Amino acid sequence: MDRSRIGIIGLGGIATRMHIPALQTIPSVEIQAGAEVNPQQAERTQRRFSIPRVYESYRRMLDEEELDAVYVCLPNALHADAVRAALDHSLHVFCEKPMGLSASEALSLDELAEERGRLLMPGYNMRYVPNYTRARNLVLGKRIGRILQIQATMAKPGPYTGWDPKSDWYHDPDNIGVLYDQGSHAVDLIRYVCDVEITTVEARASSTLPGLEIPDSIAATFSTKTGAVGTLNLTWGAPANLDMLIVHGTAGSLLASWKYFEHLTTGSGVAKLITFADNTATIVRRVARSLVRLAPTDDPYAAISRDFITAIRTATSPRVTARDGVHTLETLNMIARALSTRDKVMA
Ligand SMILES: NC(=O)c1ccc[n+]([C@@H]2O[C@H](COP(=O)([O-])OP(=O)(O)OC[C@H]3O[C@@H](n4cnc5c(N)ncnc54)[C@H](O)[C@@H]3O)[C@@H](O)[C@H]2O)c1
Repeated sequence: MDRSRIGIIGLGGIATRMHIPALQTIPSVEIQAGAEVNPQQAERTQRRFSIPRVYESYRRMLDEEELDAVYVCLPNALHADAVRAALDHSLHVFCEKPMGLSASEALSLDELAEERGRLLMPGYNMRYVPNYTRARNLVLGKRIGRILQIQATMAKPGPYTGWDPKSDWYHDPDNIGVLYDQGSHAVDLIRYVCDVEITTVEARASSTLPGLEIPDSIAATFSTKTGAVGTLNLTWGAPANLDMLIVHGTAGSLLASWKYFEHLTTGSGVAKLITFADNTATIVRRVARSLVRLAPTDDPYAAISRDFITAIRTATSPRVTARDGVHTLETLNMIARALSTRDKVMA
């Protein structure tokens, strides 16, 4: 089979730091063209990665190039139009997260991809962090029991202050702050690891970073179809990156993050006593503890691109689907509504 010909739309931070280097390690891939509106960034990226042709307009790139797939690495508010244009050219699409800003629009893109027989895959790379898959396997293997509580945290010294050129679009109200940025990873991880859908949310937000008027810190509580309840904590105001998911169930607890993993189960170990007012006591559980510090054995950005390329070359389903992108947006849209009304919002 010939090499898969890829076009990259938006040659900014995520494209040049993660996706292009990852794609260039895959022998069956050729990055044939790019599209970028910033001329300096276009020229610099073309030279650095030896991309044969770079266009100012992605629509022109789609018209003039013979491609198999595109990566949409644009500001969030521009995702949906670019995905639609690429599907209209019958291309497979990898779309950076989130898959647009509206769940109903994302659903129409998913349906269009289906109609065209093309793959549309949102870029939820955290699913490829080994510790999160380990957590999912424990949950699906019933090692945590029935899930009672979920805590998800995504904290960053963002919005991507380190990217070059500076990405001012993160400050634009159209892109809705930390919610559609880190919130989209958090909601996708809850769905992936815990296999639940969020049905009800309440949320509060604040804007704390100098010069930002959009929410940069959000706390939400939620409940799910299965009865589990949980919290979501998102901030751009942290000193360093911290991602974490804590799950408590009837048979155990787990803590998973990019670098750490801890699993606590009922079983042999230290007896835990609960003492009542009349001084009687009972053993509620024996706890077995396994704390493992893990470095990821794989780069999740490289892993997600390998999954996308394998899926388009073998017509198989990748780990994250367009329908996942739609469901995550349904929850993000609910949280956005809860923030604007300050009411409880239900699916
Ligand atoms: N999965 C992750 O871990 C992760 C991390 C960072 C960013 N992202 C996502 O990647 C996307 C891009 O984020 P970024 O940080 O790379 O932003 P960025 O600002 O660094 O890059 C976006 C690029 O798109 C270009 N652009 C804007 N409008 C364009 C148009 N109409 N046509 C062509 N080019 C255009 C900009 O000039 C810029 O170079 C966002 O959706 C973001 O959520 C994902």
